Amino acid sequence: MATWSTKPSLIAAAIVVLGLSCSAGVAHGRRHGRSFVSSYDEPCKEMRLYLHDIIYDYSNSTSNSTSAAATKPTALSTAVADPGYFFGEMVVFNDPVTEGTALPPSLNETAAVRAQGMYFYDRKEAPNAWFSFSLVFNSTAHGHGTINLMGADLMSEKTRDISVVGGTGDFFMTRGIATLSTDEASAGLEYFRLKMDIKLYECYV
Ligand SMILES: *[C@@H]1O[C@H](CO)[C@@H](O)[C@H](O)[C@H]1NC(C)=O
Ligand SMILES: *[C@@H]1O[C@H](CO)[C@@H](O)[C@H](O)[C@H]1NC(C)=O
Ligand SMILES: *[C@@H]1O[C@H](CO)[C@@H](O)[C@H](O)[C@H]1NC(C)=O
Ligand SMILES: *[C@@H]1O[C@H](CO)[C@@H](O)[C@H](O)[C@H]1NC(C)=O
Repeated sequence: MATWSTKPSLIAAAIVVLGLSCSAGVAHGRRHGRSFVSSYDEPCKEMRLYLHDIIYDYSNSTSNSTSAAATKPTALSTAVADPGYFFGEMVVFNDPVTEGTALPPSLNETAAVRAQGMYFYDRKEAPNAWFSFSLVFNSTAHGHGTINLMGADLMSEKTRDISVVGGTGDFFMTRGIATLSTDEASAGLEYFRLKMDIKLYECYV
């Protein structure tokens, strides 16, 4: 019966928490006057963006490189197949993101949209990756804030969906799906371009 007696205090606590978060929401000027839109049939926002990943492979210039392997492939990777499928290799990236397919004129870290995060290879028999990254927007076209994405990049599939798990700023509390496809890739994956069709199903507008 102890559970019964604790319930009213839990409800009271919930009301206090709700009250606090409501007043915090009102106090947050950027969301003032905006409303929450959510439909799982129709996206509230759609974007097509291209991510360019240029891994530093010792021969490329350091100024042009946008990603770096932070670990080597594991011994298991090379034991299973030589030269292996990178199993266990982790790559950290800060990649330029563009609306068209062309590389931006400068690869320095000032692009209006960037993808910052990491991927690692997780399959013994073929290249396959898992991604976790933020799209960082500082752009007049798309606004300011971040969208956070994660999921399995099943590289043998032509298209694969990963989750948009949240957002900040102009993308406050957003959720959705990003459909990835490899638009171009060099043989050794030193350069690849991912097409990202992002559909957001929960937005503040
Ligand atoms: C270096 O970067 C360019 C893009 O700027 C890319 O096309 C190329 O494959 C990279 N690697 C080497 C070895 O040049
Ligand atoms: C660096 O990238 C630019 C294009 O963004 C390209 O013209 C140049 O050849 C690249 N340099 C190297 C060393 O890859
Ligand atoms: C970075 O690239 C932009 C756009 O090309 C350019 O205006 C800016 O001067 C560059 N910044 C640096 C530090 O190279
Ligand atoms: C955002 O863009 C503005 C204008 O181009 C620039 O001054 C500012 O440094 C950028 N902020 C970040 C975090 O890149």
